[in-house]
Amino acid sequence: MRHSFGFSLLASLYASAVLALPTEVPAEAAPIERRDGTTTLTAAQLASFAPYTQFARAAYCTSGIPTWTCGDACEANSGFEVTLSGGDGNDVQLYFVGYWPSQNAVVVSHEGTDPTQFLSDLTDTDIVMENLNTTLFPGISNSIFVHSGFANEHAKTAPAILAETRSLIQQRGADSVVLVGHSLGGALAELDALFMTMNLPSDVSIKSVTYGTPRVGDPAYASFFDSQVPDFTRVNNEKDPIPIVPGRFLGFEHPHGEVHIVAPNDAVSCPGDDDATDAECTIATVPNIFDSDLLDHLGPYQGIYIGTIYCT
Ligand SMILES: *[C@@H]1O[C@H](CO)[C@@H](O)[C@H](O)[C@H]1NC(C)=O
Repeated sequence: MRHSFGFSLLASLYASAVLALPTEVPAEAAPIERRDGTTTLTAAQLASFAPYTQFARAAYCTSGIPTWTCGDACEANSGFEVTLSGGDGNDVQLYFVGYWPSQNAVVVSHEGTDPTQFLSDLTDTDIVMENLNTTLFPGISNSIFVHSGFANEHAKTAPAILAETRSLIQQRGADSVVLVGHSLGGALAELDALFMTMNLPSDVSIKSVTYGTPRVGDPAYASFFDSQVPDFTRVNNEKDPIPIVPGRFLGFEHPHGEVHIVAPNDAVSCPGDDDATDAECTIATVPNIFDSDLLDHLGPYQGIYIGTIYCT
């Protein structure tokens, strides 16, 4: 239904644009409004995610990271200089930090984890939530609660990553910091986006793009995150169950920024935090884990798959 509707809408818009403007073809079509406030991403907007997707993918490629030789994922962002990497893919998720000359940016990327185990952990009804550490998140309210495991995992690497980020800003004059990750790595990147915003000078811009990210904290966390981190995108692929866990009935809520890939080359931007009731956003497309497909967690994210087996 949706596809035929989308196609005929596109076709008629295209036809009317051609009829109305025979001599002027806009360089990029304006985003198309869909019902209930979702917006279809243009081809250019979709293509613009590729470097971030490749950075998120590269975090899985343990052996190649120190030298930035991990096949397609590294070659897609050739010129990137890794300056710090760590983790063991077990107790501590692999991560890397480095300088991206073409964007004058520091990039931080976190690896995810085994999706089957991860889904099982996040559907446990005994999930513990806790406050964020006020040494790491100065002044954060004790009415904000996040997933205890994510907070602890984040705290393991946060001081070293912040020190390296500050050093790159100072030495290289970087004026922005990019936080990316997939799966558990997406949750860590989301916490990093808040952490960096609260610890770096306000003239450093923060951008975060995550993939297949679970819910990280409660509604108070989501609203605080929304107020602090404007440039945030969490990309969800088709029927991936990870973005719907832990459940809202357990007190979790996503912040803003959802982009839902509904089919290859077709994605919508969903308004609001976790209440986008539009049929094309994740919450309606994946009503529960029994009506989901864990393979969609791996991609494709605009043709790019993310996971250890995709380190070519
Ligand atoms: C909070 O983080 C700081 C800095 O990493 C650490 O020294 C301290 O032990 C942490 N506090 C708690 C309660 O975990």
